Amino acid sequence: MAGEERNIKLKIENVKKIYNSRNGEMVALNGVNLDIAENEFICVVGPSGCGKSTLLNIIAGLLEPSSGAVYCDGKKVEGTGTERGVVFQQYALFPWMTVKKNVMFGLNLQGIKGKEAEDRAMKYIKMVQLEDFLNHYPKELSGGMKQRVAIARAYAVNPSVLLMDEPFGALDAQTRTQLQSELLETWEKEQKTCFFITHDVDEAIILAQKVIIMSARPGRIKEIVDINIPYPRTQETKMSPEFLDLKNHIWGQVYQEYLEVRK
Ligand SMILES: Nc1ncnc2c1ncn2[C@@H]1O[C@H](COP(=O)(O)OP(=O)(O)OP(=O)(O)O)[C@@H](O)[C@H]1O
Ligand SMILES: [Mg+2]
Repeated sequence: MAGEERNIKLKIENVKKIYNSRNGEMVALNGVNLDIAENEFICVVGPSGCGKSTLLNIIAGLLEPSSGAVYCDGKKVEGTGTERGVVFQQYALFPWMTVKKNVMFGLNLQGIKGKEAEDRAMKYIKMVQLEDFLNHYPKELSGGMKQRVAIARAYAVNPSVLLMDEPFGALDAQTRTQLQSELLETWEKEQKTCFFITHDVDEAIILAQKVIIMSARPGRIKEIVDINIPYPRTQETKMSPEFLDLKNHIWGQVYQEYLEVRK
């Protein structure tokens, strides 16, 4: 038991979230329980509005649960922390800073300055292929490019947990495939725990060790699907019978929840 406990990186314990919206109280999450092991790659899918971003923001410490708690390395989450890096659904860059300065921002906050900060920033700017845009400002970039800066910024501070909210949603298919491979490489090399939200079932299966299917609002965990396909996973993986079986199953489950929302 004690051994198992040590391996849990994130513990989500009976998390409930009620928003006070203009239509009165709105239960966004209703009793979410989930243990995420160290270095585990989790993808979360579910219909729009089921509470995925809410859950991510609670894990990030940006939002407080109405009841229940999240623990990271056994410590209760009560605010943000540098061990938990976030990539938001909508790119959140500082408009007054260049690409390079945006990526260096978190490093400077951690006290990493000068050449080391520049080298680290450059490594990740190259990874997202923006080395020709170092001195551009966000307003001079396309949506996909801004999202790539946000990804570089999150990776650069080397958090042990990466919380990613549809990070590749705005990207073209080629860049998306490229960044999926880069993410898997980073994950295997640097040992990170990943919590990744996506609407794309193919993306979830290519990336994850476990896919979490959330129910329609109020969000709960409907099913946890183990993805036992060995890494590295490639484009060919998407043609394999096991991939297609998983895709059918997950897609069907999410679609059922989507129909619930439409009722
Ligand atoms: N600040 C807020 N105040 C009131 N209600 C909110 C707030 N933020 C989110 N909600 C509501 O909570 C529910 C869950 O929202 P959330 O953004 O977590 O969904 P989601 O699963 O991430 O959806 P999507 O897939 O569209 O991004 C929605 O019904 C939304 O309207
Ligand atoms: Mg969302």
